[in-house]
Amino acid sequence: MTPLKQLPAWKVLEQHFKTMRTFDMRTAFREDAHRFDQLSLRCGNLLLDYSKNRITAETMAHLMQLARESDLESTRNAMFSGERINFTERRAVLHVALRAPTRPRLMVEGVDVEHEVALVLKRMQHFVESIHNGSWRGHSGKPIRDVVNIGIGGSDLGPAMVCAALDHHALESVRVHFVSNLDPAHLATTLKHLDPETTLFIVASKTFTTLETLANANSAKAWLLAALRAPAAVARHFVALSTNTEAVEAFGIDPDNMFIFWDWVGGRYSLWSAIGLSIALQIGWGNFQALLAGAHAMDVHFKEAPLEANMPVILGMLGIWYANFWGTDTHGIFPYDQRLRLLVPFLQQLDMESNGKNVNRANHMVNYNTGPIVWGAPGTNGQHAFFELIHQGTRLIPTDFLMAAVNQTPLADQHEWLLANCMAQSEALLKGKPRGVIEAELISQGMSREAARALAPHKVFPGNRPSNTLLYQKLDPHTLGMLLALYEHKIFVQGVVWQINSFDQWGVELGKQLAPPIRAALSSVRAVGEHDGSTQGLIADIRRRRGLST
Ligand code: F6P
Repeated sequence: MTPLKQLPAWKVLEQHFKTMRTFDMRTAFREDAHRFDQLSLRCGNLLLDYSKNRITAETMAHLMQLARESDLESTRNAMFSGERINFTERRAVLHVALRAPTRPRLMVEGVDVEHEVALVLKRMQHFVESIHNGSWRGHSGKPIRDVVNIGIGGSDLGPAMVCAALDHHALESVRVHFVSNLDPAHLATTLKHLDPETTLFIVASKTFTTLETLANANSAKAWLLAALRAPAAVARHFVALSTNTEAVEAFGIDPDNMFIFWDWVGGRYSLWSAIGLSIALQIGWGNFQALLAGAHAMDVHFKEAPLEANMPVILGMLGIWYANFWGTDTHGIFPYDQRLRLLVPFLQQLDMESNGKNVNRANHMVNYNTGPIVWGAPGTNGQHAFFELIHQGTRLIPTDFLMAAVNQTPLADQHEWLLANCMAQSEALLKGKPRGVIEAELISQGMSREAARALAPHKVFPGNRPSNTLLYQKLDPHTLGMLLALYEHKIFVQGVVWQINSFDQWGVELGKQLAPPIRAALSSVRAVGEHDGSTQGLIADIRRRRGLST
């Protein structure tokens, strides 16, 4: 494998970047009336406008050449055909197979993918319908009214985000809740208004060993049993979503109440699997299928469109351009769509757990930046909080704006203002506002020339700041599926170019290993000496506050 920085296209891009340092998008728009047409792309009802970037046609050609030299196309095909591209865990990566209407005949780790996926989907559908039509009853014979998904990370963020995004498609018959945090307040506040007789718990955990999930599931079981006073009640009020049948049984859930998935579904890519059960319960089976179909449509596009007209490839390579040539550290995501309020936390895991890596496929430390810090908030809230820094701060921050063309909540003209604000922000980032214009404005408002000259620099918007805009028709299950798969594949593209493994997560392990001895030191007389001075000091202080000896 040729190291990234030695690829011919990388070297060409380094030279090209020198000519682009002074590139001004405003001039580019003035000189080329077709810039928007040339630097925008449609896929289904999605429109990606990437014309507000510090790029030319030449930049894009070099970036696509870099993608080719990085073997993007063959690695993409390897993923779709079930090769073990997760090389540190020796696993295939096949979340795409979960949403394909007709799956290729694939045997992966002894599993007939097509057959098994179809089987689990059938069982899920049957279960979802039995909850909705009331044929599944709680222990005392009452129908289920509330569903609590207990999970964390990929077993929480995906389904929670989709349920928030598609709340307007929610069925009346059940309410879905999510509990993830180890903080007992999360479970306690959720259960406060629920009735044990009509509540179903979904314990969602790929490994079924996760501390937070098992702790919350055990507390939920105790809450249920305290009210229903019959161990048999667990079978009517608990189901599990997992790859680990033994652990599910050990917890006390009948394998008949378990929906399986497989090692080749990464946690952060699992909402399309049995982990999506809470989604199907909220929006109904037909809508869940539409979500899968939308993701599949994006899979087909990613697999078949030429790189130059491939949305995930374009987004991914633009991210490489900024992170590795312009030296940006972060990427802002701003959905002007309140229903996408949980998109950022979801994408934080998807992107940062996938590409927050520093060792490449040849097992060497990389000598370039990899995954960006992903952050953001729904618009217009962000405007009144941190947009100051994007407009006037010292850092260059590439951003994605997302907006729906069609209003699904007719409340006066609020949606029109929402769209106007979204476009006003990206326009302001692009155009900026020069000092001369500001001075003239201040003087025309009656300010003295001297005072205007002093104040004007503080009011300057430098402009020439990049953004992508993703415009969609309206947030429906199919469109959401497309959007989520778009980001999944964007992240894949970047991982391939950075030559890292986007599908493991070893970086989450050390903290998990260090927690048990700290937990023991907090409450017992266990020596705190094995910890660093700071941790020792903190433990000692907590023990003192509890009246324990230090
Ligand atoms: O600790 C990180 C992580 O392993 C994520 O990758 C995963 O999504 C989450 O924890 C939850 O894991 P599980 O589904 O096995 O409980």
